[in-house]
Formats: sequence, structure tokens, C-alpha cells
Amino acid sequence: MQTGDNAPTPQRIGVPKEIFPGEKRVASVPDAVTKLVKLGFAVVVEQGAGDLSDLSDAAFVEAGATIAPNAAALWSGSDIVFKVRAPTPDEVALMHEGQTLIGFLWPAQNPELMQQLATKKVTALSIDALPRTLSRAQKMDALTSMAGVSGYRAVVEAANAFGRFFNGQITAAGKVPPAKVFIAGAGVAGLAAIGAAASLGAIVRANDTRAEVADQVVSLGGEFVKVDYEEEGSGGGGYAKVMSEGFQAAQREMYASQAKECDIIITTALIPGKPAPKLITAEMVQSMKPGSVIVDMAAEQGGNCELTEPGKAVVKHGVTIVGYTDLASRMARQSSTLYGTNLFRLTEELCKTKDGVINVNMEDDAIRGLTVIKNGEITWPAPPLAAAPKPAAKPAAAPAAKKGHGHGEPSGPMPVGQLITVSAVAAVLLVLVGAYAPAAFLSHFTVFVLACFVGYMVVWNVKPALHTPLMSVTNAISSIIAIGALVQISPLAADGRPNTLIGILAALALVLTAINMFGGFAVTQRMLAMFRK
Ligand code: NAI
Repeated sequence: MQTGDNAPTPQRIGVPKEIFPGEKRVASVPDAVTKLVKLGFAVVVEQGAGDLSDLSDAAFVEAGATIAPNAAALWSGSDIVFKVRAPTPDEVALMHEGQTLIGFLWPAQNPELMQQLATKKVTALSIDALPRTLSRAQKMDALTSMAGVSGYRAVVEAANAFGRFFNGQITAAGKVPPAKVFIAGAGVAGLAAIGAAASLGAIVRANDTRAEVADQVVSLGGEFVKVDYEEEGSGGGGYAKVMSEGFQAAQREMYASQAKECDIIITTALIPGKPAPKLITAEMVQSMKPGSVIVDMAAEQGGNCELTEPGKAVVKHGVTIVGYTDLASRMARQSSTLYGTNLFRLTEELCKTKDGVINVNMEDDAIRGLTVIKNGEITWPAPPLAAAPKPAAKPAAAPAAKKGHGHGEPSGPMPVGQLITVSAVAAVLLVLVGAYAPAAFLSHFTVFVLACFVGYMVVWNVKPALHTPLMSVTNAISSIIAIGALVQISPLAADGRPNTLIGILAALALVLTAINMFGGFAVTQRMLAMFRK
């Protein structure tokens, strides 16, 4: 691909119309096209490809793309093809040797497709195979962006099927209690659902087998409901593992009581490579109040609810069970925009030279992970990442941490030897001060030492995340100077008349300290508000 003057010929990126029934998304959007053109690529979009995402051909042309009249012209004229869904056999037939395909290919589930692509001698990058634990890969993580949209949409679907408000209301016509929403599985989709349901005003509860997500649930406005059974639920890489029989029995009991109490259940529980765990039994559905709703996001993997029918919304025992498998596509414009951006970010990584030519560099961990076929050779699965950052397992630190008050402990306790030395030195110093310092100093010093001690204990037991609001509230309290100013504001001079100078200074001190005081409380209030939602 070299021209006479050695400048590489820019490659053409093709964006076909998705042909999977009901699929409304498109693999690129005008904003992303503009950026791809800046990166040196030519972009060609199939006529009408963005129609179902409300993106017109004219918008693509304005962004710098050209329009191909049909699929055949698009596939034959492209060096790289951006897709959302895996290609059908008809689409594979349109491919040619040396072409690069990027999309959700799901290599484990589609071995035949892998063979067909290998026979065509193409290179295939499966966006779902991206190593998500690499922080550098986050900007390309299309699974996360699609799950985020889907989690939000699950709440919208639930609200649509539910005949009541989400938030509690007191109206002239009576009091309406808030809806209770239970989310099973707090992965990406689950967390998005928690945020969306909480922002609509519902009482949100969630459960996950991975205890580490509890803080995230709370930070999004939910309450984490624990299963009364001790078992580590993390299977590595941020994913769950299949739990023991004992845990599953305890979990069933908890889910049964939530089913009776909650109005809406959204299930997102999944273990990679395994059928979705059955968490909501037929009896649990039966025990729900009439008019309740279940949205089963794991419908495609068999469903978390026994009564789910994938792709459909059905009513059973008076409960609407939504099993749609196309939640992201139901918000096509949003998903296409996020997906288009993910693919642009990936293209940036593939084209570091910014000359419109990609280099599938197998030395790069992120690129290696998602390259499932390289020039006709199947390279999937990628070898496990070397030294993946492990979440700190802390068997030694755990007992010490338990002695605390459940708050964030900034560091471990001081070793005993060191503690004895420090205490001895402090005691000697205090005896010396007591023996030789003047009496007036001693009383101030005692207050000072006590203040240091109390201040230290207070700050030490506050979570580091709350240190800034704590500082501002301390600042406000330190405005105790106001009392001094109030005492001095109307002092009398020696002759019994008001002393104007002292009065003015006291008034000034009062104004300044009022700014400090009210400003401090205002800032504290704003900061605490950030932790509430
Ligand atoms: P994820 O893997 O990030 O989250 C799944 C969560 O379920 C994990 O946090 C895991 O710890 C938890 N989990 C596993 N077993 C559990 C159990 N027995 N009890 C409680 N929690 C358990 O996956 P992500 O990306 O959040 O997607 C969630 C689900 O939604 C998947 O099944 C995915 O296929 C599905 N999905 C469905 C869409 C649709 O249109 N219906 C669109 C996007 C995602």
C-alpha cells in the first residue's frame, strides 16, 4: 500500500447497515467519522446504515464520509469493516483476503464463523474479547458501554410496565409510597440500573456474590443486601464464580423474602461461560404483589428467572416478566454513539502513526487480546495476561482491620516495641514540662495536649474520602473567634465611655469570622451532598 512518494495510501473504513433482525444500532456515528478522517482514514457508510439510530446519510456525508449504494459495494470497497453484530454467512461471502473486521464476534459461541473467517484469510478483532482489566482498555470497552445503556433501559422498561410512580409522593389525593426495586447482580448493567432507579426516587436494594461491589452499590444510592453465608464470590478478573450449594440455599431464602417485599426485580447475574444462575423461582414470582415487574437481563443466557421467555414480555401470576435481549438496541442513538466512540478509540490504538493505516500489533496486550484471527490464522483465545493486577488479598492485615470500627484505616497499627518507646519518651517530656514550666503555661499546655488527642482520634476514625468535608467543618468550628469578637464589640474605655477603635476591630473580626463560619458550613453541606447520591 505505498504510493510513489512513499506516503502510505489511507485505508478505507466501511460501515455497513446492520442486517440482524431488529438491530437498530450502527457501528459508527458522524462525530466518530470526523475523528477517523482526521486520523487519516477514508470512511464509507452504506446507504441508510444510520437510519434506525436517527443518523441520516447527509449527517455522515457532512462529517466526511462517502455513501456506498449497497452492501456489496461497501464490503468490496473497504479495507476495514466496522460492525456491531457478528457477520452472517452472506456478509462473510462479501469479504476479501487481507480485510480487517471489527465487531462483537463472540468467538467462543461462534466456532463456525471463526472457521469461515479464517478461510477468507481476513483479520478479525472481536471487541468482546478485549482484556477489560487493563485500565488502558477502558476507553475501548464496548461491553461496558453497552451494558451501561442496557441497565438504564431495563429500568425504563420496568417503569413502562409498572403501573405506579417510582418516587414516594404526598398529594392532595393521598400518600403514595416509593416503589421498591431489587437488583440481582451489581456488575456494569446492575450498577447502571441502580443509578437509574435511585434517580427516579425508588428505594433500591441490590445483591451480588462479589462482596467488593457493596460500596459501589451504596455510592449509587442503593442498599447492599447481604446473603447470610460467608463465601468469597470473586472468580478473578472482576467476574463471579459458581457458588456452593450452601450459599445458593441461603441466597434463595434472601431472594424469596425480597420478592415478597419488592415491586420490581431487575436481574443481571451472570458468570462468564456458564448458563445464567436461576435466582428467581416460579414460587417467588407467585409470591410477588400483582402488578409487579421482573426485567431479566440475562434472558439470552437462559435467564435468571425460571419463567422468563427470551425476547418477550409476558405476564405470569400477575407479574410482567420482561425478557428482551435487545435492550441496547432499544436506545440505538445512544448505544451507537458510545460504540462508535469505542471503535474510534480502538482505531487510534491501531494507528499510532496517524497516517490512516492500521497496524495489528500482537505485542500490545490490549490488541493481542481482541485479535481472534490474524491473516487467516485463528489466534483465539489469547494467552492470559502476564501479571494481571490482583486485588490485594490481605489475610495478615484482616484480623487487625477487624479491631477497628469498620471505618477506613489509613494504616496498620504501630508495632508494640515502637509504641512503648514513643510512650516512654512522651511520659519523660511531660514530667519535665510539669516540673519546670510556669503554672500559666501548664494549664494552656494541658488543653493543647487534650485537643491534639481528641482531634487525632476524630480524624483517624473518619474515612479518608470524608477528610475534606471534615476539614471545612473544623474550619467553620474554629470560627469560635466570633465569641471573642462579641465580647469585645462594646467595650468601655477607662473613663467609662465606649472605645470606638476596639468596637470597630471587633465588628470587623465578626464579619470576617462569619464568612469563615457560614462558608465552611456551606462547603461541608455541598461536599456531603456529593456522597449522598
Ligand atoms: P457483569 O459480568 O459485569 O455482571 C454480572 C454480575 O452478576 C457480576 O457482578 C456478578 O458478580 C454477578 N453475579 C453472578 N452470579 C451471581 C449470583 N448468583 N447472585 C448475584 N450476583 C451474581 O455483566 P454485565 O456487563 O453487567 O451484564 C449483566 C447481564 O446483562 C449479562 O447477563 C449480560 O449478558 C446481560 N445483558 C443483557 C442485555 C440485554 O439486552 N438483555 C444487554 C447487555 C447485557
